[in-house]
Amino acid sequence: MELLEVAKRAAAAGAAVISENVDKPRSIEYKGTIDLVTNTDKASEEAVLKVITDAFPNHAILGEEGGVFGDTSSDYLWVVDPLDGTTNFAHSYPCFAVSVGVLRGGVPVAGVVVEFAGGRGSWVQRTYSATRGGGAHLGGTRISASACSDLQRALLVTGFGYEHDEAWAANLELFKHFTDVTQGVRRLGAAAVDLCHVALGIVDGYWEYRLKPWDLAAGVLIAEEAGALVTTMDGEPFSVFSRSVLAANEGVHGAIVARTRAATTALAAEGMDFSPWFVPQ
Ligand code: IPD
Ligand code: CA
Ligand code: CA
Ligand code: CA
Repeated sequence: MELLEVAKRAAAAGAAVISENVDKPRSIEYKGTIDLVTNTDKASEEAVLKVITDAFPNHAILGEEGGVFGDTSSDYLWVVDPLDGTTNFAHSYPCFAVSVGVLRGGVPVAGVVVEFAGGRGSWVQRTYSATRGGGAHLGGTRISASACSDLQRALLVTGFGYEHDEAWAANLELFKHFTDVTQGVRRLGAAAVDLCHVALGIVDGYWEYRLKPWDLAAGVLIAEEAGALVTTMDGEPFSVFSRSVLAANEGVHGAIVARTRAATTALAAEGMDFSPWFVPQ
């Protein structure tokens, strides 16, 4: 319980920083050609980390902007995305979030995502949370994945990373395919929010290649606790260090994986690295 309370306070601290800055001019730096980071990403991470280190000085933390902190021999690893959906945030486009996940022995045990919806001058925060075995919640209300079992009636969501590599190109093909065989495919731009939308049952499935643990740690637990199946895109058991994710309700997961597995197998045969991003000791 205490882990979840601290995760909620940490995510709220990050969200408060975002809220203060959301309608102000941004200062932007580039990590790559289109991969951007703002002053708010960094300030949010600082605020999140302070809450965690004050509460659990002996735990380890992995933050997107600052890397690894604390005692890496700890069984607990906090995995923080201080601002997921930075591109949206930089454009004041709704759909960004703070994501705080807690792993014990490499397995997510608690997670909180604070989503920003709405728009300029009227932002709304929505807090999703989960503990392992304790279900998933939006605010105080229990949530569950959708019941749709007909792919043709399903609404899906995916994402495209900053690196325009072979996986990115393969995903454009998947986008085309699923746009053809479902009710539609959305591309929102914040992985943590995509996973929470699967948990909420407003989309039926989500897949994406080459995400990082901070994109996934909280959202996959929230999706799983809401009853979604979470695997890699080739249908294998998922860890937050996996290089692909497929989260979908039980009714459509099989139909999606049939196609994403074939795409992933082809990429692996061409030499794309799908080994875990990091293996916890
Ligand atoms: C990105 C978002 C996006 C996903 C990218 C991520 P960031 O995270 O989650 O939806 O497609 O792969 O890197 O950089 O906005 O925290
Ligand atoms: Ca980023
Ligand atoms: Ca992210
Ligand atoms: Ca981020």
